[in-house]
Parts: sequence; structure tokens; C-alpha cells
Amino acid sequence: SPPAIINPSVLSADFAELGKACRDAMDWKSDWLHLDVMDGHFVPNMTFGAPVIGKLRKHVDRPKEAGGLGTFDCHMMIAEPMRWASIFRDAGADMYCFHYEAAVTSVGAKDPADTQTTEKCTPKNLIRYIHELGMQAGIAIKPKTGVDVLWDILAAEDEKERPDMVLIMTVEPGFGGQKFMASELHKVTALREKYPNLNIEVDGGLAEGTIDQAAEAGANVIVAGSAVFGAKDPAHVIQVLRDAVDK
Ligand code: DX5
Ligand code: ZN
Repeated sequence: SPPAIINPSVLSADFAELGKACRDAMDWKSDWLHLDVMDGHFVPNMTFGAPVIGKLRKHVDRPKEAGGLGTFDCHMMIAEPMRWASIFRDAGADMYCFHYEAAVTSVGAKDPADTQTTEKCTPKNLIRYIHELGMQAGIAIKPKTGVDVLWDILAAEDEKERPDMVLIMTVEPGFGGQKFMASELHKVTALREKYPNLNIEVDGGLAEGTIDQAAEAGANVIVAGSAVFGAKDPAHVIQVLRDAVDK
């Protein structure tokens, strides 16, 4: 697998002090910051949107290059991911990780106010568009979605239509602090077998007790919310997660 990328989710931080949470996470030597955007439609919860991310951007240095320290990994749990991509780019998103399930059930409108477009969104068109906007593109799947939907997308003839990262959810998206679903790891194993250099992210229930299974399966981008922000010694937890992936 590629090197570990430890990616604390601020969903478990104090939302009244998000700037501090981001600075703390960087001090604890995290690589990226995982920002969970929820719209109350795709998932039964709401968090924050581009205006908040734009303000946070001022608290965390931009990565020198794509994939560098301080990368804003925006996990878009929203119903219409194409509509919002340019808004989040302008706010300072580096990775725009949309849900496959949302992409295939939404329209290809590229503006929140567009009521005219009826053309369907497709994962490949959306990935191309995210790349044209200058962001990295991630594609996420929920536990009930099979890994097989990803093969055709990963094998896109045009590299602009291929994702930079795949996110395998190891809980139902919507809330932090849920139980890790080891039943999802076969997806990671299958992806890692075919794609030795792909960034494969896991999200949900990752902690000291579950990281070994995930690392063994081949995950290298590790999201951790409650395990980091709920820890007595968050820097230690981040180190444990990193060592498990890099060993
Ligand atoms: C859940 C979010 C996760 C969440 C993980 O929908 O996508 O990023 O913050 O929280 P933990 O690590 O506590 O399971
Ligand atoms: Zn997430």
C-alpha cells in the first residue's frame, strides 16, 4: 500500500471551536483533515458547508502540492454533488469526495441555482469536472453498495475520469462514534489487489482496536473522528494508526 495518510474527522470535535480543532489535529501530526459535509437529504444529519470550510481554510496552511500536509478532504454526503463542486473549490477544498449513490441519482447542474439542466450526472463526468476545477476527486460507497460499481470507473480510458481516491464506508454515513463494520473490508482487499498504488480510504469506527484489520486489507487513508478527538492523548492515537498502516 502507499504510505499512511492519517485523516482526523472534525465531526467529533467541538463545533464551536473548529479552527482550534484543525490546528490541534495538525499539531498532533495528522496528514489531512477530513471534513464531513452533510445536507440532511443524502444522510439524516446536517453539519456545515462551504462558508465554514472557507473560514477554516484560513486556520490551516494549504498543501504545497496536491496530497500534501493540510489537505482538506471534503467528504460530500450531499444529494447533488455536481451542483456544489465549484463552490467548495472556491472555499478551499483539495479533495472533493462524492458518493457514488448520489452521483447516479442526480442531475448534472453545475450551479446551486440552476433549475434548467435535466441531463444526468455520471461518476465519470463528475470526476472530470472536479479535475477541471483543480481538485482531486474521490468516490465513496456506502455499506450497501457493491465494490463492483467501481471497476468501470477506475478503468476509465481517459485518466481525467479516473478517481484519485476511493472511500469505503465502514459505517452507515451520517454520524460519528458508530461500530466498525469489518464486513466491508473485503471491498478494500479486492481494490488493493488490482490497484497497488491507489489511495484507499476507510471511514467509520477506525480506532486502535480496528486499525490492524483495515491496514491488513490494504487501506492507507485512515479517517478517525471519535478515536482522535475523544482520546486523552490524540497524538499517540495518530501515531498508532500510522504505524499500523506503515509497518
Ligand atoms: C460518518 C462520517 C465519519 C465520522 C467517523 O458519516 O463520514 O467521517 O466522522 O467518525 P468515527 O471515527 O467516530 O466513526
Ligand atoms: Zn467521513
